[in-house]
Amino acid sequence: MKDESPILYPNERVGERISAYAKAYTTGIPKHIIEYHGHIRETMPKTANYMVSISQAQAMLFLTKTFGAKRILEVGVYVGLSSLIWSHAVGPDGQVTGLEFDPSFAKSAEEAFQKQGVKNVQVIVGDALETLPTLAPTEPYDMIFIDAQKSGYPEYLNTILKSSQPGSQRRLLRQGGLILGDNILRCGFVADDSEDNPWREFDFGPQRREYWKSEDIKALRRYNEIVSKTDRLENWLCPLWDGVNISRLLD
Ligand SMILES: C[S@@+](CC[C@H](N)C(=O)[O-])C[C@H]1O[C@@H](n2cnc3c(N)ncnc32)[C@H](O)[C@@H]1O
Repeated sequence: MKDESPILYPNERVGERISAYAKAYTTGIPKHIIEYHGHIRETMPKTANYMVSISQAQAMLFLTKTFGAKRILEVGVYVGLSSLIWSHAVGPDGQVTGLEFDPSFAKSAEEAFQKQGVKNVQVIVGDALETLPTLAPTEPYDMIFIDAQKSGYPEYLNTILKSSQPGSQRRLLRQGGLILGDNILRCGFVADDSEDNPWREFDFGPQRREYWKSEDIKALRRYNEIVSKTDRLENWLCPLWDGVNISRLLD
């Protein structure tokens, strides 16, 4: 029965301690990135939870280096925390492109890159639903990280698939490249929106009443369905953090 157990950890307290232990015994991420994370949490408390956690950043860094990615595209930059992870992972001879809707977030990101001497990240300001289909890189990306508005996930994925056809000139993602869809379980609602899910009690704000019934959750389910029905993709839906759907483009 153990293999079929749906329980990640026996309860929340044990889960927290196990997570802290795993974080402590995983290769750390550079000090300037930890400090930037702390700085944003202090100075932008209302939106700081947009950033990936340090523990997720550790995993992303490990994955990227193991995979040997040199070119990464990020959809949803915020103030550049995850871009700093990608920038470090690909190294000075690698390249990161970020798509961000909000000019003030993009400006903060650019300022952070400049302050930290980061030269391998370029941010394109605009609605990624419009900018993503216009990208025609001279060399395809090795990885694409999707972390913008959740309602757009199915469209982002369809665009990536359409713009990465085998044999096409200037394809977006290379054969064997990875697509990471972040927050793919969204407080678990995507898989379980029943009353058993304690997140139903959380106040997500006036715009997000009964969030488990929202378009965001429906769109994330559609994303997972597209991935599982697309023969061109193989994937691992990782249930850690807020869920990350990691797909590999086969052709
Ligand atoms: C969750 S945050 C990204 C966090 C970042 N990846 C990190 O971990 O540090 C999502 C970002 O996507 C941006 N965004 C939302 N909708 C977008 C769109 N249609 N096009 C481009 N960016 C968008 C938001 O402005 C926000 O900054």
